[in-house]
Amino acid sequence: MKALVYEGARSVSVKNVPDARIERPTDVLVSVTTTNICGSDLHMYEGRAGMESGRILGHENMGEVVAIGEGVDKVRVGDMVCLPFNISCGFCRNCEAGKTAYCLTTNSDPLTAGAAYGFAGMGSHSGGQAELLNVPYGDHNCLVLPEEAQERQSDYVMLSDIFPTGWHATELAGLQPGESIVIYGAGPVGLMAALSAQLKSAAQVMVVDRHPDRLALAEEIGAIPIDDTLGSPIDQVNQLTNGAGADRGCECVGYQAHDPQGDEHPNLTLNNLVHSVRFTGGIGVVGIFLPQDPHSPDRLYREGEGEVAFDFGLHWFKGQTMGTGQCNVKAYNRLLCGLIEQGRAAPSWIVSHELPLEQAPQGYRHFDDREPGWTKVLLHPEESG
Ligand SMILES: NC(=O)c1ccc[n+]([C@@H]2O[C@H](COP(=O)([O-])OP(=O)(O)OC[C@H]3O[C@@H](n4cnc5c(N)ncnc54)[C@H](O)[C@@H]3O)[C@@H](O)[C@H]2O)c1
Ligand SMILES: [Zn+2]
Ligand SMILES: [Zn+2]
Repeated sequence: MKALVYEGARSVSVKNVPDARIERPTDVLVSVTTTNICGSDLHMYEGRAGMESGRILGHENMGEVVAIGEGVDKVRVGDMVCLPFNISCGFCRNCEAGKTAYCLTTNSDPLTAGAAYGFAGMGSHSGGQAELLNVPYGDHNCLVLPEEAQERQSDYVMLSDIFPTGWHATELAGLQPGESIVIYGAGPVGLMAALSAQLKSAAQVMVVDRHPDRLALAEEIGAIPIDDTLGSPIDQVNQLTNGAGADRGCECVGYQAHDPQGDEHPNLTLNNLVHSVRFTGGIGVVGIFLPQDPHSPDRLYREGEGEVAFDFGLHWFKGQTMGTGQCNVKAYNRLLCGLIEQGRAAPSWIVSHELPLEQAPQGYRHFDDREPGWTKVLLHPEESG
């Protein structure tokens, strides 16, 4: 089969590799029809996440089931399915509690928890930027999609990661209807957090970034764009909230957060949140932070292995709460699927490019450069032939 293989920093190529296949009776084999490039892939692409060369990337996957193991009961050949980026077992302690992002079974390293397709530090599973994908514990991991999914793949594929992740950011922040919320980052994840906040009837949704095309997408769904090249985002949020700060805040950027000039400061968005969320407000951090980053330009993050100069004094003084971590996609994907099916949500509004798998290397380059107009790239392995 053809697959997108990571070869080293900013180097990926489409290669012929051995076919993915059923390995255990509980596996499902999927012919991948749509697979997205994610901001998480970019941390790996840039050589900043310890990805091993030779591995297949791709954790935002959907497709058609082409084979099932003997122990599979629910999923049928021919079903269209969307796969949560987290690979989970359904029966470990964390899965039982709904925390499928921290599955204790699917990552063979006993010192860590959680697994994903084609992801550094999250097990050895191959990614889905390929013609075929092996799905472990297929009955548990496959979300079987309604019939119309075949025609609306660019909406349904978002159930694999970013729509649930955006929703999770607002859950971690504790958003209630009628509240205000500030979201740092208008990448795909921040935009999905904005969509989720709108769906949850937030009174005021503010989105901070500096890319006009991304801010325009936020504005399209009724959010207030905040351009941090025009002045401190903290001041802008405080002005919009009568000096109080937003009720809730989301971090949708991660450890490679930078200032508008491009200099990286892993603590920048975290501290901006502390300053622009009100006393007793809630903060949800879904942007990725890592326990090691040997290539960080920030000395504390590099030498302190993930330490950031966090404004804990003010955070504590304001009585704020903060939730963090990977999204437990299974906690939300079925419900969000209902919103798509009933026409209440169309997360495909952020899609800018749909490419055959062969053009994945170009897709990575443009998306990584945050070139204007490259807001979300979908790959279609089946059209590659
Ligand atoms: N927790 C999870 O389960 C989960 C799932 C998916 C993605 N992620 C992570 O979420 C983050 C965002 O993903 P994405 O696909 O949207 O990535 P992206 O890189 O496309 O978007 C990030 C955006 O943040 C903006 N930005 C950078 N510094 C900023 C700052 N100081 N203030 C405001 N905006 C700033 C950038 O201009 C960019 O538009 C990444 O770290 C990704 O790995 C986490
Ligand atoms: Zn992703
Ligand atoms: Zn588990």
